[in-house]
Amino acid sequence: MLRKGLFKKEMDPDASDYTSSMEEDIRIFEAVVQINAAHVQMLEKCEIIEKSEKNKIIRALSELYEKGVEALDLRPELEDIHMAVEEYVNKKAGKKVGGKLHTAKSRNDQVSTAIRMALREEVLELQEALIELINELVVLASKHKETIMPGYTHLQIAQPTTLAHYLNSYSQAFSRDLKRLNEDYGTINYCPLGACALAGTSFSIDRKLTSELLGFDGIVENTIDAVGSRDFALQTMSSLAIMMSNLSRLAQEIILWSSAEFDTIEVPDEFASTSSIMPQKKNPVVAEIARAKASRSIGELISGLNIMKSLPQSYSLDLQELTPSLWSAVDQSKTSLKVMKKFVGRIEAKPKRMRELAKKGFSTATELADALAKWAEVPFRESHEIVGRMISQTLKNGKELEDLSLEDLQAASQDVIGKRIELSEKRFRESLDLKSCIESKGKLGEPAPESVKKELSKLEELTKKYKKVLEKRKKILSEKSARLFESKENK
Ligand code: ARG
Repeated sequence: MLRKGLFKKEMDPDASDYTSSMEEDIRIFEAVVQINAAHVQMLEKCEIIEKSEKNKIIRALSELYEKGVEALDLRPELEDIHMAVEEYVNKKAGKKVGGKLHTAKSRNDQVSTAIRMALREEVLELQEALIELINELVVLASKHKETIMPGYTHLQIAQPTTLAHYLNSYSQAFSRDLKRLNEDYGTINYCPLGACALAGTSFSIDRKLTSELLGFDGIVENTIDAVGSRDFALQTMSSLAIMMSNLSRLAQEIILWSSAEFDTIEVPDEFASTSSIMPQKKNPVVAEIARAKASRSIGELISGLNIMKSLPQSYSLDLQELTPSLWSAVDQSKTSLKVMKKFVGRIEAKPKRMRELAKKGFSTATELADALAKWAEVPFRESHEIVGRMISQTLKNGKELEDLSLEDLQAASQDVIGKRIELSEKRFRESLDLKSCIESKGKLGEPAPESVKKELSKLEELTKKYKKVLEKRKKILSEKSARLFESKENK
């Protein structure tokens, strides 16, 4: 359809296979049909085509929309879906009318518009999946506000916390991912259509009208920017890469915790596989795949950034190669969120084992040092040294946290500051006790069950808020798309 004017020969079949985006374009089929419908609605309003011409084209498009992508000729020789749709309209409405479809638009503005439309739908779906994951974590955390476990730094036992407090840390990270996706929607949702190849058009088109018909928040004004930019895609891919790295951290800990060495959680059978040779193996495969998919999503972002970084303005076919990376990142993220949500919901924690581990590694040592500073008027740096000395002596004698006595502390104090300190047995015991240690931390964001409860209800409110925003966006999109083919009955 395109080559007859300029060329004498068809494109080499290997070259057309190599450069065609047809296969990937199936993903933007619906958007492309909608864009064409909005465009002809606008052309008619602006008196660039006749009403009867518009109706004929709308009828063809509406029929195509109903039939689906299978109705199209998808041979790679046609280059891409934009040409396939135009060809379909030509066949149905005749070349004389169908030939007007591409007036005042180009594939360059059209493809960017279509990617934005398909991507905004994906973002809403991703947000929904993310909300479900957070909700699942919240449910699990609600059951474990009192489940004491060791908190780690450097993967060494650090201070006691609770499973709920720990899970909330992930929910917080995921809620920021949710916020980022919400902002990404705002960046994506501007319409490049009407920018044409790069320099706009002398036809008196109304870009605002097409943008409104398609549910955009506004237009991408600069026509070069409109066709030549993909930072909206990079921004989303970077949010997804961050989200996937958060998810991968969680997956990594699930793998670690389900090992015999930690043994603090049980992976449900439905989410594990076994070995073909070792009959005893229970492998946390879902978490392993999530960890690897995170690497791939990060890779897609890096590919995208590399494609863009030296590309001259405005459109080059390099941009076509970025789109599959975008969809791949979207798909990796979506499938990971969906399965990890289910997986997290079925994880069984082992509170007894968690508590056992929390007693190891002198996890309440900081609490004891704090007690000296609070009650015995020892500057913190000195109390830190005294407790450190006590632990080093204790380790030599093979004792553990529970075996410590106030006398051990007094001996260390003599050693470090040359005198005994004033601390009651009761306070000494309390500061070594896991439960009172956690209960003493009841400020905002801390592990005490009361604080965790507040954090949980805030998280619930937050997901509700984002759910509302996304439902509203969904509603706008479905109302807009319902209206696009409206005049199909008019002759
Ligand atoms: N298939 C192209 C893409 O996905 C559409 C635009 C092609 N433009 C062109 N002048 N060849 O980006």
